[in-house]
Amino acid sequence: MFRLCFLNKKPMDFTALVLTRQSDRSYLDKPVEPDKLEKILACARMAPSACNAQPWHIIVVNDSEIRNQVADATSEKILGMNHFTKQAPIHLVLVEEPSNMSSSFGSWVKRRHYPLIDLGIFAEHICLAAASEGLGSCMIGWFDEAKVKKICGVPSSKRVQLIITLGYPAGKTRIKIRKATEKVVSYNRYGNSIL
Ligand SMILES: Cc1cc2nc3c(=O)[nH]c(=O)nc-3n(C[C@H](O)[C@H](O)[C@H](O)COP(=O)(O)O)c2cc1C
Repeated sequence: MFRLCFLNKKPMDFTALVLTRQSDRSYLDKPVEPDKLEKILACARMAPSACNAQPWHIIVVNDSEIRNQVADATSEKILGMNHFTKQAPIHLVLVEEPSNMSSSFGSWVKRRHYPLIDLGIFAEHICLAAASEGLGSCMIGWFDEAKVKKICGVPSSKRVQLIITLGYPAGKTRIKIRKATEKVVSYNRYGNSIL
C-alpha cells in the first residue's frame, strides 16, 4: 500500500533530491503535516541493514515542551553549537537497538559494528525523504546523550546515536562544498588518481 502510494507520486529526480537535501539550520514557524511525517517514517523503515537486523528505534519528539528540552541538550554555549535546534518543530531521536544474531556474529567476526552503519543509512533515508516532501532536516551528532536519554526515557543500557531536526526550512538551498572527485575516488587501487 505504502509502496503503491509512493509509486503513484511523480518522484523528484534523484540527483535533484540529493542536491536539495542539505543541513538546514533555520526553520519556519510552521508545523509539519502528520501525513508528511508518516511518509518520512515509512521511508526510514525501508532502509537496508546488515542481515536485515533493523537495529533502530525512532522517538518522534513533537511535544513542544519535550522538544525544547531535547533542543537544549543539543546546544553548547561555549562552542556555540546547535543553537538553532529549538526552531525545528520536530526532533527525531535515533536509538540503537540490539541487532539480530547473524549481524552480531558478523560484527564480531569482521570487527565491524554494523548497527552504526545501518543507523547512518536509516538517517539518510529520513533526510532524503524529508527533502522530497519539501522539508528541511539536520543530523545532530553533538548532544548530551545522558540528558536526552533522561528526557525521552531511553534505558541507560541503550545508545542514542543521532538526533535529526525536521521542519520547513527558512533558508535557501546552498551550493554544496565537497572534496574533488579525484580526491575521493580511485579505480582498481587505493590512490590519488581516477585513471
Ligand atoms: C553524523 C553527523 C553528525 C552531524 N552533527 C551535526 C551537528 O551536531 N550540528 C550541525 O549543525 N550539523 C551536524 N551535521 C551536519 C554536517 O555538518 C553536514 O552534513 C555537512 O557539513 C555537509 O553539509 P550539508 O549536509 O548541508 O550537505 C552532522 C552530520 C552528520 C552526518
